[in-house]
Amino acid sequence: MSAQGSAPHRSSGRRVLVLGSGAREHALARGLARSPGTAEVIVAPGNAGTISPGGAREAPIRRVEGAGLDADSVVALARAERVDLVLVGPEAPLCAGVADALEAAGIAVFGPSKEAARLEGSKAFMKELAARHGIRTASFAIVTDMAAAEAEIRRRGAPVVVKADGLCAGKGVVVAGSVEEAIEAARGMLVENRFGDAGRVVVIEEAIFGEEASVHAITDGTSLLVLPPARDHKRAFDGDAGPNTGGMGVFAPSPNVSPELLARVEREILRPTIDGMRAEGRPFRGVLFAGLMITKEGEPFLLEHNVRFGDPECEALVALLDGDLGELCASVARGKLDPTAVRVASDRSAVVVVLAAAGYPASPRAGDPIRGLDAAAEVEGVVVHHAGTRLGPEGVVTAGGRVLAVTATGSSLAEARARAYEAARAISFEGAHFRTDIGASAGLV
Ligand code: AMP
Ligand code: GLY
Repeated sequence: MSAQGSAPHRSSGRRVLVLGSGAREHALARGLARSPGTAEVIVAPGNAGTISPGGAREAPIRRVEGAGLDADSVVALARAERVDLVLVGPEAPLCAGVADALEAAGIAVFGPSKEAARLEGSKAFMKELAARHGIRTASFAIVTDMAAAEAEIRRRGAPVVVKADGLCAGKGVVVAGSVEEAIEAARGMLVENRFGDAGRVVVIEEAIFGEEASVHAITDGTSLLVLPPARDHKRAFDGDAGPNTGGMGVFAPSPNVSPELLARVEREILRPTIDGMRAEGRPFRGVLFAGLMITKEGEPFLLEHNVRFGDPECEALVALLDGDLGELCASVARGKLDPTAVRVASDRSAVVVVLAAAGYPASPRAGDPIRGLDAAAEVEGVVVHHAGTRLGPEGVVTAGGRVLAVTATGSSLAEARARAYEAARAISFEGAHFRTDIGASAGLV
């Protein structure tokens, strides 16, 4: 490989392709670029932030704009770029079998097979796996017609949760406060086909209340490395008001999950999932992200499994890892997790504040110029990860619902939080909104 531009960078090492276009992928790309074993990071299709000339201590990051994420396009790109490793950011390509196609082409991939990705791709599959392996999850019924759905909802009464089985970009879950609302939700899925095939099967389940937690484990299908617990904030506005979103902010490690509780989550939820998947002939390789609800009594319930990093959880987790993220992922791709490739920092915490576009999540507005990115990046401990951004003739403009994920580390959660908000307030674009209470449940505000 020849050096590009004038910036000095490593000429030997791993060439890594990251698939996706969010702040998660920007954070992964930066983490990989900082890894000693990386020569170049390519992000497809990426965003306005996923470009860097590299330097003495960082590999360059390049973007392949307009790249498709279907299996054929990904294999062709990986071959053309002669990459040594592919990281798949979002769930949709995994559920469509991109990891299988790469593996068949002899290209190392960090991410589960299509069969293993059913843990996220089918909520009914996840619930039945949990039932088979004694994993604590909300009680549930699986229905495929409206009469059965209505009977089940009436039998349970409100509150009750209605979930479309398949992938719905985060819109397929309704926590219904009344029987009528639940029936309406089920009708939208089963009768009105609002989610197409994803809504032909519906899970109706008990509503669980408590404190949410996101726990990620890196796994080769047998052994696992549990990452620090993170706390996402799903609702759009302060005080958990407004509609559900992909996630408006995170803090990690979350003090709401003690080391004892984390050990229980590993023993009672993560380990049986990974062992169960292997025993059933669909070993899970990659990152397993358990979405949990911790009840008042301190019992962890599995709400969802995701087969990829959370976003914005990933931005915080990458900020808490030292060492060689590329080698960690490559070891999983080779089939033998090397947990010594990274160390979880014990001297810092991370807070992420997401800046969203006007109208997000219902109908985000695009094309607004973004100001203050440089000033924000100057705040100590801060990295501004891009999500829905695009480079226009006059600079960076908004191009999606979640626009930026301002990520800060500090020696305490309070310090990380203060830095994240100082940086977030330095950025402006028309209609920008962000939650001001990230960290509230950790007692920081
Ligand atoms: P998802 O968008 O599929 O990640 O899940 C959406 C959100 O729905 C979760 O993060 C929880 O806040 C909520 N949720 C899912 N299942 C339940 C449940 N059984 N009880 C209460 N809330 C739930
Ligand atoms: N932040 C939650 C998710 O990525 O699903």
